[in-house]
Amino acid sequence: MRKNIVAGNWKMNKNLQEGVAFAKELEAALAGKELKCDVVIGTPFIHLASIASSTKLGVAAQNCADKASGAYTGEISAAMVASTGAKYVILGHSERRTYYGETDAILKEKVLLALANGLTPIFCIGETKEEREKNIHFDVVKTQVEKALFDLSAEDFAKIVIAYEPVWAIGTGLTATSEQAQEMHAYIRKTIAAKYNNEVADNTSILYGGSANGGNAKELFACPDIDGGLIGGASLDVEKFIPVIEGF
Ligand code: 13P
Repeated sequence: MRKNIVAGNWKMNKNLQEGVAFAKELEAALAGKELKCDVVIGTPFIHLASIASSTKLGVAAQNCADKASGAYTGEISAAMVASTGAKYVILGHSERRTYYGETDAILKEKVLLALANGLTPIFCIGETKEEREKNIHFDVVKTQVEKALFDLSAEDFAKIVIAYEPVWAIGTGLTATSEQAQEMHAYIRKTIAAKYNNEVADNTSILYGGSANGGNAKELFACPDIDGGLIGGASLDVEKFIPVIEGF
């Protein structure tokens, strides 16, 4: 059975003290609630150890290196992320692809290293506005999945969480409609079934990201192929994040 997951992605926001305080506040606010999803917070690297050791919430890094170790100044390996107690790593976010030149080939290496270190990749895919206007969005998303993930065994693929984040919806206030999101999520699941099998496809959690918030989460999460969200802006305040979590 696939899991419902609501994951926050703080991006480059919050200093260490703010991050630690947020995690405590969120955990306290969720205590006693009957949650219908796993809750994950995606923090900057320097927060990981402090937050992972002081909360039961899931913790995600927002990236990891495409090399295992060695002379790569400034990089953080998957093994280092795992050693903090974080269980997830967001990989392939469109901001990493666009601003830091992350290619499908680089991401393939990152996914392998994440899995080798016991981390669950939250693997982001999604088309740009231009690609949707040209009506090539299904092909774009299929290629992203194929190139970075489809060399994995079925056993390893089963450890991946997918996040569909249309680039035009990220941070723009332009959420995909639930019909657009459901259509793409169903397509992604069909693509996984064709490559692996129905069981693997049915068990893959596929999250939606892109201007998701407390006002639209319920409708998005009610769609049969939407298993949660990857939340940017609305994950930065506890009082904005909780209504998203309660979208389930
Ligand atoms: P927003 O929710 O701010 O649009 O960001 C989505 C996102 O990029 C999450 O990874």
